[in-house]
Amino acid sequence: MRKNFLPVAGGSALISDDPDLIGHIIDVSAHHMVASLLDDYEQKLAHRGDENITHSGAHLLVKSRGGQLLVRVVRSWLENGATRVELMPLGDIGTDGRFSRGVSQFPPLNAEVRVVGLNQLAGMFDAFRRFGLHLGRHSQYPELKVFFDPSPLFGRHLAILGQSGAGKSWAVASILQRTVQSMPRAHVVLLDIHGEYGWRDAEGNLHSAFPAKMARHVDARDLEIPYWLLTYAELIDLLIDRSDPNASLQMAFLREVLYTLRKKANRDLGIDSLSVDSPVYFSIKEMYLQFKKANEQQMDFGKTRGPLFGAFDEFLVRFQAMFNDSRYSFLFKPRKRIESTQLESLLRDFIGLGDPKRPISVIDLSFVPHDVRPTITAQIARLAFEFNYWNPRRHEFPILLVCEEAHQYIPREADLQHAATRKEVERIAKEGRKYGVGLCVVSQRPLELSETVLAQCSNFICLRITNPDDQAYVRRLMPEGEQDLTETLASLRRGEALALGEAIPLPTRMQLYRPDPTPSSHDAPVNEAWLDGPEDLDVGDIVQRWWRQMR
Ligand SMILES: Nc1ncnc2c1ncn2[C@@H]1O[C@H](COP(=O)(O)OP(=O)(O)OP(=O)(O)O)[C@@H](O)[C@H]1O
Ligand SMILES: [Mg+2]
Repeated sequence: MRKNFLPVAGGSALISDDPDLIGHIIDVSAHHMVASLLDDYEQKLAHRGDENITHSGAHLLVKSRGGQLLVRVVRSWLENGATRVELMPLGDIGTDGRFSRGVSQFPPLNAEVRVVGLNQLAGMFDAFRRFGLHLGRHSQYPELKVFFDPSPLFGRHLAILGQSGAGKSWAVASILQRTVQSMPRAHVVLLDIHGEYGWRDAEGNLHSAFPAKMARHVDARDLEIPYWLLTYAELIDLLIDRSDPNASLQMAFLREVLYTLRKKANRDLGIDSLSVDSPVYFSIKEMYLQFKKANEQQMDFGKTRGPLFGAFDEFLVRFQAMFNDSRYSFLFKPRKRIESTQLESLLRDFIGLGDPKRPISVIDLSFVPHDVRPTITAQIARLAFEFNYWNPRRHEFPILLVCEEAHQYIPREADLQHAATRKEVERIAKEGRKYGVGLCVVSQRPLELSETVLAQCSNFICLRITNPDDQAYVRRLMPEGEQDLTETLASLRRGEALALGEAIPLPTRMQLYRPDPTPSSHDAPVNEAWLDGPEDLDVGDIVQRWWRQMR
């Protein structure tokens, strides 16, 4: 009989008078361990107020002469009347209480399984406490603030995943609010797809999901991202139908015209190295006229046709349709951005250095028609990347691009309409770290999101996910040894998340702080609306709004 065991009546039960000792290791294999818990573990936990310690995701200590190991509960079950728990080792705890990932030595059989004290757990976050960024509270120990290291969190990309209504938008608001509170010179560009982070009430007053000093709201249409910012490849995507038999002729001609026009309109800039892709003004009308002229060219009083006669019929029809479509007006018919020098004010507005200067720029895309969004989001992602790529002080000026509802415009499939956006965002995912451009992708459909982007994310904040396909997919994204954690995803409450990755000392189940103010993503109260909602509506007004594309 070991010293700290007390036999009880009948001789079969095992208890201990050590209040932290709750069991012993009975099985050790390469990746996990099994412990048998003492018969009195429940009383001990109840006494400490830690009833859910055997729930998957909870942390325990395994102590032996070789040292202390932090482990996570994977599952628990009953066997021969005793509670068994499967444990996943997370890392060593040094004599100074510091946690380090990886296991130097597995414990022997019979090693003690102990409760992790609050102080011990708090000690593990100590190294991260100095950054001052805490985003929520530990689920198991609500007294414990969960601290993150902002550099890997925002510099090495973050994915916020969870099913609809799990609390992603609230999480974004809360995380950004905390971030700006602790780092007032943050630079965040938030793509707001549904107008959730800034909206106007019936009187036209702006409401924001951020305190006034934190954010500037820009309607994507007012931002005016002009056509002349598009690269040659992007103009091809927009204007040329690749299945047209004359597509390659059109591309070659576009290249020539574009180069000439960009050069011609910008002689006074005095830059020799302008290229077909340079973000400088050119006249779109002139471009159209050149295509038209070549398409109609005839020689010898109409006896012979020009070499390109008729080759641009399709192009011209497509161009006309797009040019006259009012939804594309802000792209093709800019009102203020009609010369190259306007690029500076565009960049200022976009990055939050306009007037007034704000750490968060919320770009509201909710008024931008669906089929134009990919073009705009591609440009926004490109601006974020190019800004710091050319910024000599990029390391003092890291930028975070937050993509809400990312699956809508950064899809996984080779979807041609979204190819340009995907390419731009994937570039940030792959190379952004070097230039101080971080990405935060937010999605309810991880399965539909670009794999390249997700694979580059070093941090995950996973909210509730119950769909088995999404769960299985998220599981594959997790680092080895942390995959079993995804089993807890279905049991998370609203605003509760599993945080893992480089920015947090250990994978942690946590309750994110409630944002203040909150985004406008309230669930529609169907019962109230259907009980005593309006009897009639101004349908004419709805029609007008639809016609005018004004919500
Ligand atoms: N941290 C939280 N604390 C309390 N309630 C929350 C929290 N987070 C979210 N909620 C509740 O859940 C609702 C939905 O949250 P939210 O809009 O953030 O979900 P979502 O995941 O963004 O959904 P969708 O995918 O549809 O955009 C909120 O209106 C709020 O009532
Ligand atoms: Mg949302």
